[in-house]
Amino acid sequence: MTLTVAISCNSNNKKPVDNSQPIAESLGDEGFDIIKQNCIQCHANNNTFTKMIAPPLAAVKEHYLENVDNEVDFVKNMSDFLVSPNIMNSRMPNAVEKFGIMPTLGYDRNQYEAIARYIYNAELEKPDWLEKHEAESKSNMIKNSDPSNIDFLKEGKNIALSTKSILGKNLLNAIQTKGTPSALEFCNTRAIPLTDSMAVALNANIKRVSDKNRNPNNAANEEELKYIAKVKTEVANGENPSPKAIESGDKVIAYYPIMTNKMCLQCHGNTNDDISVETQSSIKKLYPHDLATGYKENELRGIWVVTMDRKE
Ligand code: HEC
Ligand code: HEC
Repeated sequence: MTLTVAISCNSNNKKPVDNSQPIAESLGDEGFDIIKQNCIQCHANNNTFTKMIAPPLAAVKEHYLENVDNEVDFVKNMSDFLVSPNIMNSRMPNAVEKFGIMPTLGYDRNQYEAIARYIYNAELEKPDWLEKHEAESKSNMIKNSDPSNIDFLKEGKNIALSTKSILGKNLLNAIQTKGTPSALEFCNTRAIPLTDSMAVALNANIKRVSDKNRNPNNAANEEELKYIAKVKTEVANGENPSPKAIESGDKVIAYYPIMTNKMCLQCHGNTNDDISVETQSSIKKLYPHDLATGYKENELRGIWVVTMDRKE
């Protein structure tokens, strides 16, 4: 069923693509880097029989091309959705019905615009677009990298966001195939390996903690609670919560907020209506001291804590 939708959407409205320039140089790499790290996990172009978690990116592109004839509108429509994924902004209501709404990812609008511009201009229709650009982008990275000049706040964010996207993929997949009560064990980062080259180079370590933790191992320490309090104040004042990095011996520790969206409420929302009776009883069994319920959308659920080596 999904497959048919994706394929039929693929076949119309092909946009002529200018092949004369390599994509990496003409577009800049920020959009591509994010897509590779954080979109492809769910939006893979898989024509195998493995379970689909989301429509392939090429199918998404075709849908967004259906009602626009220029890059500016394309970028605007897609960024509107990515900043705030909800059914009102959706151009693919059938996909929302089939897969559940896409989780919010936590980039800023400029980054979403870079991603959308990349999607508009890239040849996603070609099966090897990812591999091709990856090779180009890697050689650029090696050329441009300067170890004395690492932006830890940015690298930590990349690590947190790509962990988040793998977590989101596992969670959506489990909810779709097993149902929410059995998906509980998939909201857990401990099994997610950090394989990204920068994460390995920085000897990075990541965890999630909360002031209202479900797993007793995820309780925030004093320093983390200070950051949580700061973010809560920012959110209450209507500001964008900001990340923070501190130096600690030969390490840098970076903190990033984790906000709730609608998807989270089936396990972290109100016990009277959001969380089903079955899910509640599984939670009680696994986590007798659970504190992580009663959340609404767009609240601070916890934080990412990324620890990185300071030496190059
Ligand atoms: C955790 C899995 C997951 C990740 C990661 C993910 N998506 Fe999605 N995305 C989905 C699902 C599921 C849908 C289909 C449901 C929907 O439309 O919301 C979707 C739909 C979309 C849509 C169509 C939305 C609509 O309904 O109009 C766009 C555009 C999109 N994704 C872009 C992206 C981009 C760009 C990234 C990376 C920055 C990304 N996605 C990362 C799961 C994911
Ligand atoms: C299927 C149920 C389920 C869903 C959906 C879910 N969670 Fe969880 N969440 C859990 C469970 C179970 C744990 C405890 C995991 C562990 O043992 O480490 C948890 C733990 C966490 C933690 C670590 C701190 C703590 O309380 O132990 C954070 C942060 C978190 N979830 C955020 C989210 C966010 C944000 C969403 C939505 C994007 C979400 N969760 C969706 C079940 C869920």
